[in-house]
Amino acid sequence: MKNTLVIGLTGGIGSGKSVTADLFKQLGTTVIDADKIAREVIKPHTKAYQQIISKFGSTILQDDQQINRKLLREVIFKEPQNKLWLEALLHPEIRTQLEQAITKVTTPYCIVVVPLLIEKHPYPLVDRILVIDAEEKLQLSRAMERDSADSEQILSIIASQASRARRLELADEVITNTGSINDLKAQVLTLHHKYLSLAKPSNK
Ligand SMILES: Nc1ncnc2c1ncn2[C@@H]1O[C@H](COP(=O)(O)OP(=O)(O)O)[C@@H](O)[C@H]1O
Ligand SMILES: [Mg+2]
Repeated sequence: MKNTLVIGLTGGIGSGKSVTADLFKQLGTTVIDADKIAREVIKPHTKAYQQIISKFGSTILQDDQQINRKLLREVIFKEPQNKLWLEALLHPEIRTQLEQAITKVTTPYCIVVVPLLIEKHPYPLVDRILVIDAEEKLQLSRAMERDSADSEQILSIIASQASRARRLELADEVITNTGSINDLKAQVLTLHHKYLSLAKPSNK
C-alpha cells in the first residue's frame, strides 16, 4: 500500500525533466527515476540481460559486458517489432520496481520521472501528471548541446514522442521551462507547496 502522493513528471527530450527533478530533490522530496530503473533491469545477471543477448547477439554488448544502450536504442528504433519485444520484456519489470520504490517512500509526496508517461497513458501508479513544457526550438538547442548531437538526431526523437499539445492536454500541472533556472526554481517551490497541501491526509 502506498502512503504518498505520486507525481508523474514528464516532458519531451531537453524540456528540463532532470533539472526540475533535481530542484524537487533539493527541497527534500523523494525522486524516483524510471530511466535509472530501466538501466538497472538490464544489468548483467538479470533475466532481461540474458534474453537481450539471446535475441540480438553478443554484438549488443560493450567491452565491459554491459549492454550498449545506444546500440539497443538504434536496433529498436529501426524495427518496430524489436521495440515491442523489448517493451514487453522490460516494462512489467520496470513497473514492479517502480511500485516497490513507491511503497518505501516516506515523504508526503514523491516525484516519479517517466519520460514517456504520456505515450503510455493511462500509466498506473501516478496520481497526477506534471508536464515540463518548452517550445521545440528550445528542446532542440538544449538537447543538442547536452548530448553533442546533431539536429537531425534530436528532431527524430522529438518526432517519435508525444506532441506538445497531447502532453498539455493530459497535464494536471505544467511548468513552463523557457526562462532562467531561477524562474524554474520559483515554479518548483510553488508546486512543492501545492503538492504538500494536496498530500494532507484529509485530501486523500
Ligand atoms: N531553464 C534552463 N536554463 C538553462 N539551461 C537549462 C534550463 N533547463 C534545462 N537546461 C539545460 O538543458 C539541458 C536539458 O535539460 P534536462 O533536464 O537534461 O532535460 P530532460 O531531462 O528533459 O531531457 C540540460 O543541459 C540542462 O542543464
Ligand atoms: Mg533527463
